[in-house]
Amino acid sequence: MSDVGQWPDDSFGALTLARPLAVLTWSRPLAHWRRDIPPDLLTAADHQRLGRLRREQDRSRYATARALLHRAGLIAADLGLAPPGTTVRLLTSGSDHGTGRPVPDLPGWQVSISHDNTVVVVLSQATVGVDTQGLGSAGTIRELDSVFTATERAWLAAHPRDADALRLWTAKEALLKARGTGFLSDPRRPENDTLQWPGVQLAHWRPLPDAVAALAVLDDEPVGWPRGWSVFGGRDPGTARPA
Ligand SMILES: CC(C)(COP(=O)(O)OP(=O)(O)OC[C@H]1O[C@@H](n2cnc3c(N)ncnc32)[C@H](O)[C@@H]1OP(=O)(O)O)[C@@H](O)C(=O)NCCC(=O)NCCS
Repeated sequence: MSDVGQWPDDSFGALTLARPLAVLTWSRPLAHWRRDIPPDLLTAADHQRLGRLRREQDRSRYATARALLHRAGLIAADLGLAPPGTTVRLLTSGSDHGTGRPVPDLPGWQVSISHDNTVVVVLSQATVGVDTQGLGSAGTIRELDSVFTATERAWLAAHPRDADALRLWTAKEALLKARGTGFLSDPRRPENDTLQWPGVQLAHWRPLPDAVAALAVLDDEPVGWPRGWSVFGGRDPGTARPA
């Protein structure tokens, strides 16, 4: 069994944001995920949920998210933002009851999680949502355009590349997670528009060469996006908007 403090050594990506304060962690590709996640990082509810997940891949993603959350907590502690030796676990996962954001046992902080061909976890002092998708899933997104607002559909029509469809889709999921509703809220409602709703800030990065991820921040203060990220909608002067 691995030592909790060391798991998963250097086999993950990490990044911190200063504004808002946030720690992002993400896993290596699926084939290289470690399976020896320390049981201490999982709550009783996690163990129950893991017992209900049938596919090895789903169990691995679920547990990896908890391990990456722990790692994000250690980074926050190293930066003096959380008590030394902090082990962050989830009090509730949105998936437990179908609605509501996951809640960490670290007061003042929020969490968002996404898993596809990588697992991404964000521990933040602001309200955030994260979503990741492998580049291979881009093809079907245009068929789902009933989830988009008129503004988003117009944007999609003007942006024919698969990569653009993936940017819009991950932005939508990230925003719905930041809202805490997921798709239980009508994604076509004005406040769920990813391109032009006030107080919604979004940007994308590549956690792996074949994966894209979107981070949504619900805050009026401008986000200090990391170098190399591409800002989406709202404050991005380069985003084409329909008249
Ligand atoms: C939230 C939702 C957008 C997640 O998207 P997804 O593509 O299924 O999965 P992702 O891997 O990107 O995200 C999964 C994480 O979202 C989080 N999550 C779940 N519900 C959430 C909510 N309402 N708000 C914020 N985050 C939520 C969980 O932490 C979950 O990770 P975990 O299972 O490791 O705890 C989607 O499940 C949804 O819209 N749910 C609400 C509708 C619903 O409950 N439908 C029932 C299934 S048909």
